[in-house]
Amino acid sequence: MAIDVEEVATGASPNSARVIHVTVNGVTHRSKVDARLLLVHYLRERLRLTGTHIGCDTAHCGACTVLVDGIPAKSCNLLAVMVDGRSVQTVEGLEAGGKLHPVQEGFTKEHGLQCGYCTPGMMMASVALLAKNPNPTEDEIRRGISGNLCRCTGYVNIVKAIQYAGKKMQEAPKGGA
Ligand code: FES
Ligand code: FES
Repeated sequence: MAIDVEEVATGASPNSARVIHVTVNGVTHRSKVDARLLLVHYLRERLRLTGTHIGCDTAHCGACTVLVDGIPAKSCNLLAVMVDGRSVQTVEGLEAGGKLHPVQEGFTKEHGLQCGYCTPGMMMASVALLAKNPNPTEDEIRRGISGNLCRCTGYVNIVKAIQYAGKKMQEAPKGGA
């Protein structure tokens, strides 16, 4: 269902305000934003989707990873106006009908997190990896999440979590719920 949300760009000069239409987790938003507003700030502060974290703010850590038209992107490195007309998925969009996504389940079952700060970004990178390669080797998983840093260094269990999710997704009935 599309919801129209008209939001006022705060702190923007009239010339720098733009109207964007962006579908986030299946809901289309119409928002007036400052042309300089970063996507991560749009998601967190305007849409209140605080699952997307800010770690470094310099495109190094991957904590802010979201999917833009299915492709992983660091939302601290994109302007909100750059996703005008596009579809964005955040970690809040993974669960469906009260059921965890296999990647979320994998991180739970395999203890793929410690402090959890990197987790939303890791999960989004994992979803993109498994969409492209449903049965990745450990090496391919490590390469797939190489843009995401875990300061707790919990990589062994993160890899296991992604392997769990890959298996679970392959076992799921094709075309079924
Ligand atoms: S906050 Fe975006 S890459 Fe670190
Ligand atoms: S679990 Fe703490 S940064 Fe990854």
